[in-house]
Amino acid sequence: MITRIPDVNSVRASLQEFSRPLALVPTMGALHEGHLALIREARKQVGSKGTVVVSIFVNPIQFDRASDLSSYLQPLEEDLARCEAEGVEIAFIPDKSELYHDDRSILVTESLLTKHLCGATRPSHFDGVLTIVLKLFNIFQPEVAIFGNKDFQQLAIIRRMVRDLNVPVKITGHPTVRQNDGLALSSRNSRLSPEQRQDAPRIRRALKAARDLNGNGEQKPEVYLEAARKHLLSDAPEDFSIDYLQLVDAETLQPVPKVNRPAVLATACFYGDIRLIDHIKIRM
Ligand code: PAJ
Repeated sequence: MITRIPDVNSVRASLQEFSRPLALVPTMGALHEGHLALIREARKQVGSKGTVVVSIFVNPIQFDRASDLSSYLQPLEEDLARCEAEGVEIAFIPDKSELYHDDRSILVTESLLTKHLCGATRPSHFDGVLTIVLKLFNIFQPEVAIFGNKDFQQLAIIRRMVRDLNVPVKITGHPTVRQNDGLALSSRNSRLSPEQRQDAPRIRRALKAARDLNGNGEQKPEVYLEAARKHLLSDAPEDFSIDYLQLVDAETLQPVPKVNRPAVLATACFYGDIRLIDHIKIRM
């Protein structure tokens, strides 16, 4: 386990000397099978001679709600045990003060792909994400970094940042890992009550039911959106609400007037104050 940046620098220097590749898996901890799948992908990318780094840092500047930050689980012992079991060479677990100066004054901002979806309902969230991810890239200078497709808007803006700022790293996306009933794994799932947990697969079911309309060649976005909304809300528990439900172009992430190219139907829903996201691709 490493907590200080100067210690990273000396490890990095010795890896470079022996041309050993480094793969980075940025996380906020509370590691589950979704994170472990990224770690295994990282190992696949760099091989047994390479180094896999998992960063665990609950990045305060990407949280738009204080309650979400304060309730974010930090089971450090379990996380470290999981990293060890996966053969992770370095767990980077810095303090906030190691990463952020009190008088910091630079943020990375994306201005197009963040206009809708989570970018619209969580203002400044993605500035926080891009800023920490670029900092981690600069600190570790990884050959490859692995991100989950579950957070597909996050993955898209990270790819855009790497392209637009010429960051020398290969970005690899990994498919969403789900429970058997379809619920996407998330650190926030453990905060659901048993009743909420049992109900939560409605999100996946709603997206699938809407997606299946593409079999009939349906091109009107409002038909997909209406079908998904109906499934999301039918017999939903009282504390369930939709934060957003949108259909966007798979590349530009802008709402589409007509579904005649690959699109993504995406939603964020609340059970009380617990926010879950999911999406599904609509191929045309
Ligand atoms: P966190 O939510 O901990 O997720 C870390 C990584 O795990 C992200 O790339 C996310 O997409 C991926 N992930 C989460 N659940 C997954 C699932 N069910 N299947 C596949 N991958 C999954 O995302 C963040 O942290 C932060 O924003 C971060 C990028 C670390 C910046 O602070």
